[in-house]
Parts: sequence; C-alpha cells; structure tokens
Amino acid sequence: MSQSTPVALEKSVPPDAPLLSVQNLQVEFSTSAGVVRALDGVSFDVRRGETIAILGESGSGKSVTAQAIMALLPRPAGSIVGGSIRYADRDLVTLPAKDVRRLCGTEIAMIFQDPLSSLNPVFRVGWQIAEPFRRRLGIDKRQALAKALELLDRVGIPDAERRIRDYPHQFSGGQRQRIMIAMAIALEPKLLIADEPTTALDVTVQSQVMKLLANLQAETGMGMILISHDLGVVADVAKRAAIMYAGRIVEAGTIREVYDHPAHPYTRGLLESIPSTTVIGERLTPIPGGPPNLLALPTGCAFHPRCPHAIDRCRDEIPQLRRPDGWEPTHVAACFRSEEVLAHD
Ligand SMILES: Nc1ncnc2c1ncn2[C@@H]1O[C@H](COP(=O)(O)OP(=O)(O)OP(=O)(O)O)[C@@H](O)[C@H]1O
Ligand SMILES: [Mg+2]
Repeated sequence: MSQSTPVALEKSVPPDAPLLSVQNLQVEFSTSAGVVRALDGVSFDVRRGETIAILGESGSGKSVTAQAIMALLPRPAGSIVGGSIRYADRDLVTLPAKDVRRLCGTEIAMIFQDPLSSLNPVFRVGWQIAEPFRRRLGIDKRQALAKALELLDRVGIPDAERRIRDYPHQFSGGQRQRIMIAMAIALEPKLLIADEPTTALDVTVQSQVMKLLANLQAETGMGMILISHDLGVVADVAKRAAIMYAGRIVEAGTIREVYDHPAHPYTRGLLESIPSTTVIGERLTPIPGGPPNLLALPTGCAFHPRCPHAIDRCRDEIPQLRRPDGWEPTHVAACFRSEEVLAHD
C-alpha cells in the first residue's frame, strides 16, 4: 500500500452502511499465568452520526475493544486471534499496524480516561493542540495556533486567547478533558472513541462534558463509541448500548430497550446499582460477587455464579445472543432465562 493512500470514505461507505463493523472479534493476552481470552466473539456496528455505548464492569473488555480497533494492544502480549474490524472499505485486522495508526491520527480519534497523563505537562496547551495541524496539514505555526484557538473556543474554554499560553496543570480536570476533546476532534475524525471520558470528573462536570460530546457529534455527524462502567452517564447521549461481561456482549439494543426492559440479569443488576441523582438515602443493590477471573472462567454462562435466575443449563452451556419472538427487532440477549427476567418488569 502506498504511503498516502487516503480512505475515500464518501465513496466507499454507502450512506446507510456501517462506518465501523466489528465481527466476532477475539483478543488474547499471553501472561505468565496462561493465555487470557479478553474478547471472545464481540460484534457490533457503528453508523455515521450514531453513538453506541459499550458498558460493563471493570475487566469486562471495554478498553481492550477500543485498543484492538486502534491497533493499541500492548505488544507482544496482546493480539487479535480472530474476527474482523471493518472501517470504511478496509479490515483493520489485516492492515499493517502503522497504517492503522495513521488512519487513527486522522479518521479515527480517541479520548482517554485520564487527561493529565495524556497531555504533556511541559508544553503549552495551545502548542499541543496546534502541533497535529502543523504535522498533518502542513500549515504554518500562526495558522495552526489560530485553529487551536478556534477549537478551544468551540469546546467551551473561556478566555481562550489568553489560556492558549497556559500549561496543562493550570486547567481544572473538566477543562483538561475539554482540551483532550479539542485535540481529538481537531482533524474532524469520522469516528470518535471515548473511553471513560468523564470518570475522573465530578457529576456536574461529567454531564457538561457529555453534552459537549453530544453537541459536537450532532454538528459533525461523526460516529461515536462511548465506553463507560456507568450506565447513568451515557443514557442521554447514546442511541444504542452493548453490555459486556467477561469479554462478550451479553445484551444489546437501543438504550430504551436495554434500560427499560433489561433481558439479561447482569444488565438488570448494573441498572439497580446506579445511584439516582434525585433520591436521597435510597438503597442500591450491588450485584453480588465480583467479575470472574478470565484464566478460570466458570463453565457455561460466565455470569451464572452471581445470577439469581441461574438453572442447571446455565452451568453447562454458553448462551448465545438471541432475539426471542415478540421482542423489538434490535434487542438481543445471551441468556436462557430472558423471558423470566423480562417477566419481572
Ligand atoms: N496488558 C494486559 N495483559 C494481560 N491481560 C490484560 C491486559 N489488558 C487487559 N487484560 C485482560 O483483559 C480484561 C479486560 O480488560 P479491559 O481493560 O478491557 O477492561 P475494562 O472493561 O476496560 O475495565 P475498566 O472498567 O476497569 O477500564 C482484563 O480483565 C484482563 O484480564
Ligand atoms: Mg477500561
């Protein structure tokens, strides 16, 4: 492939085709204790202008999914051992990693959880935002700084003209996350992956940053993958949700389907453990037990030891995603007991 082959996105993706299509993705890590299968058959699509939330407890495989898409799996321990990741007309699994990374500098962008560790403390913020413009677009320093200023304004940093000369530590946590968002959208990506973009922030700032992401997405029409362990945070922004457990998607559907009629006991458990912002002194019900050790997964459904609905079959057989009769066409769950779980509504 030539150095500068552009992805002719407008031509290669029909308007209604997915921008990104992940199919049966499998990722393994070699560790001193054995091989960990961190992703086991993950599939989902993202269309233009659409936000999909990937949700689940710690260790369920959310970040590994993002790392696999962006060719950021730690080498040599982590590798994709099966499946495909189609972006536009290419399979990112078979594309050389350096080509994926080039694509990821421009077409696909990522926002990481911790803005302080992603910003360089010794460079002024304006310069850090301007640098990719200079490098990628070949424009001069003054033009690049003007663009940086425009972006800081756009993500709601007050007094941007003065602040452009400040260093990262002079900004609050919420402002640093806005700066990271500015850097991520600088080259107008077609797809934005945000991995726990608000976890380090307090609740009010969280919702401001989420609103900013939703507005930017509406303006630019980019596709977005929003990763979170907090189902409450993403509900207003995402249209669809995929719930992960032990490296698999165990439930997926529109936000309303999944939140209003959870069909997997794990999703139900996650929803019951979200604190509401309005009820004082409410009792939350955490899911008993903790996420499984991927080196010693339970037999059958990996969730069965923690599941109030488990029956013998759940110990013996791994349930696949299915859509029982009468469900909404987009709603699927990997549970033998979904009908009973739904009957509890
Ligand atoms: N570098 C690594 N080496 C070995 N195993 C790893 C590595 N990174 C991830 N894993 C395995 O993959 C699993 C999923 O990790 P991942 O980072 O995707 O979790 P997550 O869903 O993003 O959790 P969190 O909410 O804590 O960020 C981990 O539980 C771990 O078993
Ligand atoms: Mg993570």
